[in-house]
Amino acid sequence: MHDSAVRRPSVLVARAVFPEAVQRLRAHFDVEANEADEDWSAEELIRRLQGKAGALLTGTQRIDDALLRACPTLRIAANMTVGYNNFDVAAMDAHGVVGTNTPDVLTETTADFGFALLLAAARRVTESEHYLRAGRWTRWSYDLFAGAEVHGTTLGILGMGRIGQAIARRGAHGFGMRVLYHNRSRLDAAIEADCRATWVDKDTLLRESDHVVLVLPYTPQNHHIIGAAELARMKPTAVLVNLARGGIVDDAALAQALRDRRIAAAGLDVFEGEPAVHPGLLEVPNVVLTPHIASATVRTRRAMVDLAVDNLIAYLTEGRALTPVNH
Ligand code: DGY
Repeated sequence: MHDSAVRRPSVLVARAVFPEAVQRLRAHFDVEANEADEDWSAEELIRRLQGKAGALLTGTQRIDDALLRACPTLRIAANMTVGYNNFDVAAMDAHGVVGTNTPDVLTETTADFGFALLLAAARRVTESEHYLRAGRWTRWSYDLFAGAEVHGTTLGILGMGRIGQAIARRGAHGFGMRVLYHNRSRLDAAIEADCRATWVDKDTLLRESDHVVLVLPYTPQNHHIIGAAELARMKPTAVLVNLARGGIVDDAALAQALRDRRIAAAGLDVFEGEPAVHPGLLEVPNVVLTPHIASATVRTRRAMVDLAVDNLIAYLTEGRALTPVNH
């Protein structure tokens, strides 16, 4: 066998991605790709990772101590997502494995979708479309699907990273909204001024906002950060949007609050235990439900995959990850 062939690292592509991305990887590595897009169990993932130096992941494959012990050749786990709650970062540090994510490239697209969900839920877009498609529309009337105002209202943003800031700018500059935000730490004054956003504590945000958007990372501390008590603090006319991760919201409590009209509506792109969706959410009309697609434009998804590929190439050929989350 040729020397260079012996030295070529092996990489696993754990789910189907754009074929061009696999081609790019093949120029540098031996690649095993899940072209059939099968759902591999944790055991199957471990089996496929034997001898691999890198893995391209979608953010749903758990990289933890058990997997790392069983896959000693793994050096880099590259998510094609910005969220990386599938990584046990402490375990990865302990095993000397770098994790990478895809910041920046999806920020504006995801913020657009935040407004799509907010507008759709507040203005009852999907609810009224179902009514029309069911042939129930017989005449115009003054209160037909009258919803909640969005422009000129108060927008509360929980989690003020890149996506939160992009949503704030849309709200303040595009929709003339007053923007409140809550984050562990306050942003620099210059960023607050650019976003026209004011830091408040979480209770004030829930109480004063007409609409609340969640864009914070999922961590054990953020588990069910929005539950029955928090929903009870919100205005009965409020819309809640979750773009972040399932598990941040107690979906059972939310379904109950929507059923009781404790809040007006919700727009949800992420769910606890997805792709399963809490049955209570499927039963109420005042919620817009989408299957985790906030970053799903063709251009952005290409950019996300490309950045994950760039991370694998840079790290395995030059020892330098472009967007590491640890190390
Ligand atoms: C992300 O990039 O984290 C999105 O939620 C897609 O998983």
